Amino acid sequence: MIVALDEPLQLNVTRLIPITEKHASERYVSWMNDAEVVRYTEILPGGYDVARLHAYIASVQNDPASVFFAIESESHGHVGNLRIGGISARHGRATIALLIGERAVWGRGIGRAAIQLATDFAFRKLHLRKLCAGIYEVNIGSRVAFERAGYIQEAKLKAHAIYEGQPLDVLQMAKFNGEMAA
Ligand SMILES: CC(C)(COP(=O)(O)OP(=O)(O)OC[C@H]1O[C@@H](n2cnc3c(N)ncnc32)[C@H](O)[C@@H]1OP(=O)(O)O)[C@@H](O)C(=O)NCCC(=O)NCCS
Repeated sequence: MIVALDEPLQLNVTRLIPITEKHASERYVSWMNDAEVVRYTEILPGGYDVARLHAYIASVQNDPASVFFAIESESHGHVGNLRIGGISARHGRATIALLIGERAVWGRGIGRAAIQLATDFAFRKLHLRKLCAGIYEVNIGSRVAFERAGYIQEAKLKAHAIYEGQPLDVLQMAKFNGEMAA
C-alpha cells in the first residue's frame, strides 16, 4: 500500500520516506547486484536493472499487506530500503525486512534507527500488536540492530535456510506493542 506521511519519519540522521519510482536508481541496482550486501538475505545478486526495480516497487506499492520505505541518511541520501510486509489485520502482526546497500554507512546506527522508526510507525499508525523478523544466525549486525531496537529472540528455526551450501539456523525475532502481547 502507499502511505502518506505528513512529514518524514526521522531519528537522528536517519529518515524513512515512502519509496517512489525515483528511488529506482543505478545506485539501488548496484546494491542488489552486490553479493556482499545481499549475502544474508533472500535476494539472488545479478540480473537487476532499473526496469526490474521499477516493477518491484510497483508490485510492493500495490500489495495491500506491505508498506515500503526508502531509508535516507543525512550524509549519503538514499542508502537502503525497509519493508513492513505480511501485514495481517486479523492477527495484528507483520514482518520487517531491511537492506542498507551503502556499505560505507554500515555500523553507524542507521539500521537500528530505521527499525525503530518503522516499528513505531507500525504500532501507532497501522495499529499492529506484534512485529517479527527472520535473521540468518550468522548475521550478527542484523541481530544486534534488532536487539538494540527492542526485539527479542522468540525461536531458533533449525536448519531453516541453506547458506553457502550448508543448512543454517534462522533466528525469529519479535517485538510487541506495549501490553498488547496477551
Ligand atoms: C544488517 C544491517 C541492517 C545492520 O544495519 P547497520 O546500520 O549496519 O547496523 P547498526 O549500525 O544500526 O548496528 C546496530 C548495532 O549492531 C552493531 N553491529 C553492527 N554490525 C555488526 C557486526 N557485523 N558485528 C557486531 N556488531 C555489529 C553496531 O555496533 C550497533 O551496536 P551499538 O548499538 O552498540 O552501537 C545492515 O548492515 C544491512 O542492511 N546489511 C545488508 C543486508 C542485511 O543483512 N539485511 C538484514 C537481513 S535480516
